[in-house]
Amino acid sequence: MSQQMSRPDSAVTRVSAPDIHARKNGIPIVCLTAYDAAVARLIDPFCDLILVGDSVGMAVHGLESTVGVTLDMMILHARAVMRGSIRALVVVDMPFGSYEAGPEIAFANAARILKETGAQAVKLESGPEIAATIRFLTARGVPVMGHVGLRPQAVNMVGGFRARGRSDAERAAILAEAQAADEAGAFAIVVECVAEGLAEEITRAVGCPTIGIGASAQCDGQILVTPDMLGLFDWTPKFVRRYGTMAAQIAEAASRYREDVQERSFPGRAETYRIKT
Ligand code: KIV
Repeated sequence: MSQQMSRPDSAVTRVSAPDIHARKNGIPIVCLTAYDAAVARLIDPFCDLILVGDSVGMAVHGLESTVGVTLDMMILHARAVMRGSIRALVVVDMPFGSYEAGPEIAFANAARILKETGAQAVKLESGPEIAATIRFLTARGVPVMGHVGLRPQAVNMVGGFRARGRSDAERAAILAEAQAADEAGAFAIVVECVAEGLAEEITRAVGCPTIGIGASAQCDGQILVTPDMLGLFDWTPKFVRRYGTMAAQIAEAASRYREDVQERSFPGRAETYRIKT
């Protein structure tokens, strides 16, 4: 048996944060979110990076926004995603309230995430005041992904989830935030929901890869919230392309199951244990 064939799964090398950084201007980086082991296992072969996003609050827990997501929730979901994946870089969102108060608190919470989950990096929504924290974390061994444009954790300040960068002032501010995150050592930056042209400008201006969501194909990679792209919800944002029809499939399966149970055609003989003869 060749060495290659006898290699156990555990010997597969995970993509690292420096690997992602090195993909600037290369083949587009493929990223999706996951919150559990089953989905992580299915998407892992196709992804360079899996984000355990705080979108888990809305996508899984039915919250109105990501503000209510806690560090313990993120750690629980990240542990499941790590168990389900072997290849992709796993990045964990730092939830609202876990990093804004200062670099030391951010480091303690980021260290908890890395130690308790085994994931290799964290993501911070990087407004102007967060660059110093990114510098502090990266200098101490925590790979950080930034996040500019629409920052969902700021929903209560901006009053909604609208696209950003539609005025000159806002465009300049978002570009400056991305440059600050890049200079502070971010290995990649998510650019979410920005008006045409801005993501391209940011991509040209920063040294690390940009990962777009609602930000045009001119970024170095793309990410989608997996339940959105699978069609799990009736409504999806304008920028989502649906690659599945899971809502309809789940409703259809549940309806057929209900019929079978009510007419006693399930379980049948094939699904019933027999007495040994
Ligand atoms: O929480 C999340 O899923 C995210 C993506 C939208 C990038 O931050």
